[in-house]
Amino acid sequence: MRKKEVNSLNEFTDLGISTAWTSKLTEKHIESPTPVQQEAIPLLLNGDDVIAQAKTGTGKTFAFLLPLLEKINTEKNDIQGLIVTPTRELALQITEELRGLLSDESGVHVLAAYGGQDVDQQIRRLNEHVHIVVATPGRLLDHIRRGTVDLTDVSMLVLDEADQMLHIGFLDEVEAIIRETPFTRQTALFSATMPKEVRQLAKRYMRNPRSVHVRSKEVTVEQTKQFVVETTDRRKQQALCEVIDEVQPFLGIIFCRTKRRVSKLCDELKAKGYNIDELHGDLSQAKRERVMKRFRDAELHLLAATDVAARGLDVEGVTHVFNYDIPQDMESYIHRIGRTGRAGEEGEAYTFAALKDKDFLRLIESGLGRTLERKEVESAAPPAESVKSRTSNRRGQADRPSARQPQQRKKNRR
Ligand code: CDP
Ligand code: MG
Repeated sequence: MRKKEVNSLNEFTDLGISTAWTSKLTEKHIESPTPVQQEAIPLLLNGDDVIAQAKTGTGKTFAFLLPLLEKINTEKNDIQGLIVTPTRELALQITEELRGLLSDESGVHVLAAYGGQDVDQQIRRLNEHVHIVVATPGRLLDHIRRGTVDLTDVSMLVLDEADQMLHIGFLDEVEAIIRETPFTRQTALFSATMPKEVRQLAKRYMRNPRSVHVRSKEVTVEQTKQFVVETTDRRKQQALCEVIDEVQPFLGIIFCRTKRRVSKLCDELKAKGYNIDELHGDLSQAKRERVMKRFRDAELHLLAATDVAARGLDVEGVTHVFNYDIPQDMESYIHRIGRTGRAGEEGEAYTFAALKDKDFLRLIESGLGRTLERKEVESAAPPAESVKSRTSNRRGQADRPSARQPQQRKKNRR
């Protein structure tokens, strides 16, 4: 008994978080707050509006979940916390993180409201006790229009991946949602990237926001090694396979520009024997959830995805990110490669670039403030050379474990 009490007290308790939640953190071996948690938690507990920027994988989720939980009054049967995210996968992930902090005694009820799921079931749940809703904008607006959600008692609104939520594509929807919440609410914005215009715009919805900016020399995570593979469109797939075979990812995400390119690459790599599946917006919700589960369980080793997987996803064991198609802006680069190298783990990111991608590559390198290391692959060599070396490579690889078969490397986090 005594031991349990001691265990529940840790550095999070010093920040003002109750043992009800810290004991759950201890179970996950999370005992010291990260810098963004250290700075944002006291401000949020104090009732301040907060704009928080910190690198990918540095614990922004608990930085808003813990203070939010502190503020929920379970005596009241109202939605008091609202978290809005750009993708269904992220809404689901945050809901799971939240549920992981709850116990039967906590009495806090959480609902995920995102598209592709049965609306009627969500409506039934919304009629029961719900204190926190985690939603994507489209489905939440749907509920607002049907009159099936009441946001008039929301005391804290969180926009995760805030710069994307306030970007043109989402802005109208997000504004319509904000209008449904009371003026007196507390507002918190979190992201690894926060362009100046977004900070400026955000002030329209916030009251004297306090800025939390965990700065460091590099905009990307230091423990993620980054490479460029110079290739041509025609040889790109071969180059990707060579890199995969060489680096043997435990889990790897391969980003493509469009849903069709994801599907095509996935089919072709499957045919070559790789343990791969796809994630993008044209799949049924059931399939999206099935794929994510298999990837999280490491039954799948490679995930081909659009940018739907670029933001927020925290999958343990992602050792590699491959930008099969080059990201077209710096934010996209930062978020995509931020799927690896999380919570202090090491990672590697490979960006494939053809000559026509040179402007995007320049944009990325100037954003990073340095030239990325080039990774040589055989298929990128002149044709005569490559035929020769490819033959010798095949022989050389005969005894190596193949990325095409599930690997046994153990997960070493959590
Ligand atoms: O949102 P952000 O990209 O900053 O990261 P996240 O999705 O919150 O993921 C942070 C990861 O670090 C999760 O796997 C947490 O379990 C872990 N972690 C944490 O959040 N806080 C700590 N103090 C220590 C570990
Ligand atoms: Mg996050």
